Amino acid sequence: MDTNDITHKLHNINWNFDFNINYSSDSLYPFDCRKHYSYPATFIPEIPYTLIEILSHKGDTVLDPFGGIGTTFIQSLLLERNPISCDINPIATNVCSVLYELFDPNLDRETLKQQLLAFCNNYDETIDYTINTTDQQKELNDWYEKETFNKICYFIFQYNTIEDIQLCNVLKLVISSMLPTLSSQNKGWAYIADNVKPKDDEYRSKPVFETYKSRIKLLFSEIEVHLKNQTETFKSFYNKTTESQRIFNSSIVDINVSKVDLIVTSPPYPKMIDYVKSQRMAFNFLNQKYSDYTAHEVGARCRRSNKNALAEYKTSMGTINKRLCDLLKIGGFFCLVLPDYAESDQRKPIIDSMIKSYEEYGLTLIDEFKRYIPSHRRTVSIQWASLVNEKIIIFRKEN
Ligand SMILES: C[S@@+](CC[C@H](N)C(=O)[O-])C[C@H]1O[C@@H](n2cnc3c(N)ncnc32)[C@H](O)[C@@H]1O
Repeated sequence: MDTNDITHKLHNINWNFDFNINYSSDSLYPFDCRKHYSYPATFIPEIPYTLIEILSHKGDTVLDPFGGIGTTFIQSLLLERNPISCDINPIATNVCSVLYELFDPNLDRETLKQQLLAFCNNYDETIDYTINTTDQQKELNDWYEKETFNKICYFIFQYNTIEDIQLCNVLKLVISSMLPTLSSQNKGWAYIADNVKPKDDEYRSKPVFETYKSRIKLLFSEIEVHLKNQTETFKSFYNKTTESQRIFNSSIVDINVSKVDLIVTSPPYPKMIDYVKSQRMAFNFLNQKYSDYTAHEVGARCRRSNKNALAEYKTSMGTINKRLCDLLKIGGFFCLVLPDYAESDQRKPIIDSMIKSYEEYGLTLIDEFKRYIPSHRRTVSIQWASLVNEKIIIFRKEN
């Protein structure tokens, strides 16, 4: 790929993507994982989609080492690149795995959808479903109005009785995605991470079955639209992708993968977000301890009062970045979305030195684009409010 040609293409993109894009219903366009699972600091799908289109070819391997709910993974899949995604958060990797499975052209989606919708039919309001829950699941109780919680426990009961793994995983995604929405405290992930429960006068009944049905219908209809627009080669491409493991619930430093053609990622920013704790409700529903995962989370906000937090971030990211630069094939690109801090911000030198380190690991800076962070992402916490811009940085391994 000629660097001048690529630079020209990259400069023709409006990286803010802040206009209303009307995609034509009969062409390929980015798939928005965020519509199906709310997760902090996810990619606008247009970012990885555009980078993958410009910086790789069909059949190339694209890695996101901080893959979250799979935004890079799914765009790679749709563009017929071999996707690989790693994330230490098991709730996020389940979302990525379920979406990947639902895109299987061989899958009977209509039957699966009807089975999922049928779960709504057997609810009996005279039954107390909360008695079937474990102590950890009962911790969810404080977030919901009484009847709403009984209906959620009904879904948990259904989830525990299913044997079909695929059905179980989709149900896991949908229940996990509904838990924050149906809560009586709807202030965002930071409040959930900090365990700020609703006040006594805030409890409200929420439409559990309507929410469930509309989520199932949206999920299946969007996947159908994206598959309808796929090329004729997609089915055989997809079948080949299933030959090896592609989604890892671990750090890239702990797994073996072959060299990759392109890396597109948005790493955790220092002291900014609690990705694991933000999924507190899903961990409770699944009877899993989030503390088993927070220890591995780079940059976690919950460690913000630790005076070594920035130094630890630098060390952890240094190890991961070295591994990533080794994994990249010669000629391959490495794209990062990083925070564009104000001069006065104590985290700026950490990010600046990280950017320099890529050159020390053998990469060449190709380009850098500033982008404005949409306000819906900035208003969720005070930390975000101070961050107005981020930058997309593109490196290449030239030799
Ligand atoms: C900015 S988010 C990425 C979101 C992703 N781009 C998406 O659209 O879903 C950063 C991710 O890094 C993950 N993470 C934190 N520490 C990690 C580690 N050591 N290895 C792998 N993933 C990690 C977090 O769980 C989080 O999902």
